[in-house]
Amino acid sequence: MKDLLIVANWKENKTWEEALDFLSEFSKIYEPKPNVKVAICPPYLLVPEVSNYVRTNNLSIDVGVQNLSKFDEGAHTGEVSAREAAEFARFAIIGHSERRALGETDSDVKMKVEMAIKYNIEPIVCVVNENVPIPSGTKIVAYEPIEAIGTGNPDTPENADRVASAIKSKYQGIMHVLYGGSVTSENVRRFTQMQNIDGVLVGGASLDPKEFSAIVKQC
Ligand code: 13P
Repeated sequence: MKDLLIVANWKENKTWEEALDFLSEFSKIYEPKPNVKVAICPPYLLVPEVSNYVRTNNLSIDVGVQNLSKFDEGAHTGEVSAREAAEFARFAIIGHSERRALGETDSDVKMKVEMAIKYNIEPIVCVVNENVPIPSGTKIVAYEPIEAIGTGNPDTPENADRVASAIKSKYQGIMHVLYGGSVTSENVRRFTQMQNIDGVLVGGASLDPKEFSAIVKQC
């Protein structure tokens, strides 16, 4: 059995009250598996609370963030540095296509990955195809084709596997390639069964505790 990583990207969803509802429901039904690591990336404001909840309740999941500042600490209004995030987060999603659409560049992504590594956060670098540059030091990549995000039309497992394989042969040191885009409990296994896919990055389907725990169960 290969090691898998299942990551929830909550995007800009949930208040603390809603997150608490999710966590109390999820903790009742979630069945950890020895070969599957699970991480939840809530909106920034909820990161410390989710992290404390996970610790207090001994939930075997990790917490991540959805972005990081490309700068170290200092006069950068509105930004959160990797040093600050590292108190609570083990992972950071970097370069999501929704952020790149707002102007984030490959060079920003490189700086953010460097910050993550400096402060011991594991970057998860998002790419829309095998041609997007992946900064050195990256161990986890998420392949998320834009047309599959939030549309209910996932890529084919065969094409996702082809892209994952191309990424792994182009860059040494990549340990995990995740697939993201309309993943559900119905289709997750078709992706995780593929030779080169080592997990999934889940948006919409991760907002519901039953569906997200079903994804972990089915993967
Ligand atoms: P959906 O699972 O909602 O398609 O979103 C995918 C995604 O963008 C995860 O980062």
